[in-house]
Amino acid sequence: VMEKNIKFPVIDLSKLNGEERDQTMALIDDACQNWGFFELLNHGIPYDLMDNIERMTKEHYKKFMEQKFKEMLRSKGLDTLETEVEDIDWESTFFLHHLPQTNLYDIPNMSDEYRTAMKDFGKRLENLAEELLDLLCENLGLEKGYLKKVFRGTKGPTFGTKVSNYPPCPNPEMIKGLRAHTDAGGLILLFQDDKVSGLQLLKDGDWVDVPPLKHSIVINLGDQLEVITNGKYKSVMHRVMTQKEGNRMSIASFYNPGSDAEISPAQSLVDKESEYPSFVFDDYMKLYSGVKFQPKEPRFEAMKNAAVTTDVNPVATVETF
Ligand code: OGA
Ligand code: NI
Repeated sequence: VMEKNIKFPVIDLSKLNGEERDQTMALIDDACQNWGFFELLNHGIPYDLMDNIERMTKEHYKKFMEQKFKEMLRSKGLDTLETEVEDIDWESTFFLHHLPQTNLYDIPNMSDEYRTAMKDFGKRLENLAEELLDLLCENLGLEKGYLKKVFRGTKGPTFGTKVSNYPPCPNPEMIKGLRAHTDAGGLILLFQDDKVSGLQLLKDGDWVDVPPLKHSIVINLGDQLEVITNGKYKSVMHRVMTQKEGNRMSIASFYNPGSDAEISPAQSLVDKESEYPSFVFDDYMKLYSGVKFQPKEPRFEAMKNAAVTTDVNPVATVETF
């Protein structure tokens, strides 16, 4: 495991502006093909903005969320963990929507300063996501703007942020911070705690840590990019482990297609016939919300038959990107 951590792809995005551009593009391509994940430094988002976001997110949790989390534990009987719990995640979250419409002003208990910083952070992450999509296009031989255009649909992309804290857990063997899954959408940009670890991805059958790295943004690819790239890039299973000590902050932003975006493998990446389905993104999300913690392959299979998609397990949906 140690050796694999060392190889985890860390990419200095500022090198795109110099003579190491080609190597940097190749690193990104390799990470997309073989990891589904990479970590960015010098990504252009000011480090002092990230420091402020971190400080305020931690304060907000202490002030407004921690008590609620403890009440949730009591109400769900999780204050003693004697047997493995497989249907609940050990996390405290709230959701910010940026696009197509913001809910930033409807969220209770956020200070003006926190709201303003989150708005700024969201806009910068949105720009970074779009910049990255164009880098992916370049690596894939797709015309500039191709992915952005696919994601746009008629209403523009969906962009949101899940603000999470993973509190310390007395018995980490019994429950996950977040159960293993692949992300449904497009590109995910994660600002994770620089001290408390926990995020792991599945690589060649082993769980590998995504190492905390101060001021980095962790990128991973969702199911839609796997479909559009016809499997050249893959969405990768990941999970969050609970820890005995420390509270792990994680701010995950999801740059996803708009609800009516039509998703299909890019023609230039398909040889004969694609193994992947074509569908409207919202139909995929309806399916995903009930089967998020199951493997993606049956989802892709189910989407091949459009008739199946409307009535698969109408499970009560949790909010999910
Ligand atoms: C997610 C996710 C990881 C984390 O919300 O989909 O994988 O570290 N989060 O919070
Ligand atoms: Ni995820």
